[in-house]
Amino acid sequence: PALEKEIIPLYFGWFVTKRDEDALRKTSQDFLEQLGNFKPFKKRLQAYGYEDKHKLDLLKYFGKTPNILHCTTKYCDYGKVTGSEEYAQQEAVKKGYSKAYTLHLTALFVTPRTAGARVELTEEQLSLWPLDAEKEVMPKDAFPRGSRAHITLGTATEVQDVQTGIDLLEFIKLQQAGGEREDMGEICGGRIHYYENGMWMLTLPRKIELKTIFSGYYG
Ligand code: A2P
Repeated sequence: PALEKEIIPLYFGWFVTKRDEDALRKTSQDFLEQLGNFKPFKKRLQAYGYEDKHKLDLLKYFGKTPNILHCTTKYCDYGKVTGSEEYAQQEAVKKGYSKAYTLHLTALFVTPRTAGARVELTEEQLSLWPLDAEKEVMPKDAFPRGSRAHITLGTATEVQDVQTGIDLLEFIKLQQAGGEREDMGEICGGRIHYYENGMWMLTLPRKIELKTIFSGYYG
């Protein structure tokens, strides 16, 4: 009889373990609450479709939150996406599968579309990162490998999760251009910067460490 065929998942990624996931959801809520009450934020609500000085409940605005907090490495759609079979067959992927990794978060951000956390990958973690991950969504720009690594914390109505990584690359593009951000002061113990078009990024005072498992999500 034929042996069972390997199944390619919906996506591969690092899945945050339960305890750290609870803590990260709290951190995210705290950030969204503080930002929503932050005067400079309230004065710049037009990109969110609200009048300035209005109070915007960001927890409600980003009401769609992922079931399991994770950092996607490769979206495969069960093998339908080009390159997913090759990715699944890579030595590093096979070796890393079901292993524990510590991820590091360096920043939290919101845009009118998404709320997310920036993930800083180690050299070892980059071995699981697809070569074309950044090019796939922003073919015209050059980014350091791993720039797109993130955890989606929430999305606005009608916005797909995949948008979070695109928004993060947009921030990095503005950072690379230089001088396109304004220091707006301090919230949650860290510096908060305003970019443009409703884009805000909090640099974490200390990197947040997350225990994760590299695995596949099969839906
Ligand atoms: P993200 O990694 O930004 O959170 P969905 O539920 O839409 O099928 O997506 C499942 C996961 O795969 C989500 O985490 C989502 O975004 C990610 N994802 C969806 N589509 C893509 C894509 N085209 N490229 C990369 N990641 C994707």
